[in-house]
Amino acid sequence: MTISAEPFRIKMVEPIRLIPREEREIALKKAGYNPFMLKSEDVYIDLLTDSGTGAMSDRQWAAMMLGDEAYAGSRSFYRLKAAVEDVFGYEYVIPTHQGRGAEQVLFPHLIKKGQYVLGNMHFDTTMAHIEMNGGIPVNLVVEEAFDTSLDIPFKGNFDVPHLQSFIEEYGRESIAFILITITCNSAGGQPVSLKNIRAVREIADHYHLPLLLDAARFAENAYFIKTREPEYQDASINEIVKEVFSLADAFTMSAKKDAIVNMGGMIGIRNDRSLFQSASSSCVPYEGFITYGGLSGRDIEALAAGLYDGTQFEYLESRIGQVQYLGERLREKGIPIQWPVGGHAVFVDAKKFLPHIPAEEFPAQALCNELYLEAGIRAVEVGSLLLGRDPQTGKQKTADAEFTRLTIPRRVYTNRHMDVVVEALAAIWERREQIKGLAFVYEPEVLRHFLCQLKPIEN
Ligand code: F0G
Repeated sequence: MTISAEPFRIKMVEPIRLIPREEREIALKKAGYNPFMLKSEDVYIDLLTDSGTGAMSDRQWAAMMLGDEAYAGSRSFYRLKAAVEDVFGYEYVIPTHQGRGAEQVLFPHLIKKGQYVLGNMHFDTTMAHIEMNGGIPVNLVVEEAFDTSLDIPFKGNFDVPHLQSFIEEYGRESIAFILITITCNSAGGQPVSLKNIRAVREIADHYHLPLLLDAARFAENAYFIKTREPEYQDASINEIVKEVFSLADAFTMSAKKDAIVNMGGMIGIRNDRSLFQSASSSCVPYEGFITYGGLSGRDIEALAAGLYDGTQFEYLESRIGQVQYLGERLREKGIPIQWPVGGHAVFVDAKKFLPHIPAEEFPAQALCNELYLEAGIRAVEVGSLLLGRDPQTGKQKTADAEFTRLTIPRRVYTNRHMDVVVEALAAIWERREQIKGLAFVYEPEVLRHFLCQLKPIEN
């Protein structure tokens, strides 16, 4: 056999439809040229995010029926605790309603005002929670991450020499902790190698700094370690996951990605009892009692089962294989994308796709809109619109990369859907010079990309 198909068959389907072009034009205009404001009913193929959009398995649905809804000490919590010990080797777990809930509960116990949090590349909510606690987020990903045509296996890696020189320059006391995001979402779902994680651990040990993981896509990262880091080709996903987590002190996790649930998250702490106790006392007022943390017992059951589903090699091979399939077809058409393709999405390089649109007219957003008009596909901008303005000067910042992210939900679409995306983008590629930039009609002060209203700039 030279090919393998999805390691599942489909038991339930949800109808979708493509509304006519004229209706898409009206819908996009009403949405203020901002796909976040579209009704999901008006979208044909929804590639806005892989977060909470996956299809649960029959095992997860079955587990939901066993949810124990006790306020305290629920059986479902103990099932999660056992799964966390089994999969990650961590003693302590606090469930939270999603990833940002975990950040909100844990970060105040680790950050003193004015301290830096050093990451490969922080996700936006992570950055916001660092700042809300008076901290300063710093991104130290390898420089190669933004050269989208450079073919190297681990573009999410920490720039280790830079990490060390930063700590030397600013002093250990000025740093709260080090945070490795696996995979590195903002750089294109790019993986971090085990060798790199180990090197960061050595630095953390040397300077006595805590090392945390933002583990939203930990299983996809483990798949890349197995398939791209020769030393680990014979290790199982479970062994790799255990080894990665043994190198960290704690993690925050959005379970909406690799644990394939529609809602959920958690904090894991390896063995620091006093940190667990402080985080527990914050969990109560923010998320709820420590054995439910913002989730129903049934949600926790699905999460525990999802940790096993999401770490199956055959599943990961098919899931990442689909993302790769989309990336390869686009590349064959000459469409510029972040290469190699990452774990959860194909990132189209809108700077190269639309070189005539400057950063302050948001080329990646213009491409998202065009894709919706062309074929009812919803993608998301990861570029200057998301980045925002400099808080001091009010000037628009320029992102290192302007990406249109085609984010693939887990176990939801077939490769035929991917073919539709390829055909749509190829058609747009042919008339790319005609696409216009965007200007604000309404610009909210914080996290503006979610709610802003735009209009195409007519010459
Ligand atoms: N960390 C990473 C790396 C993420 O990608 C996300 C969410 C979070 C933390 C926050 O988790 O949404 O459960 O509160 N990423 C989604 C995305 C929203 O579309 O990339 P959350």
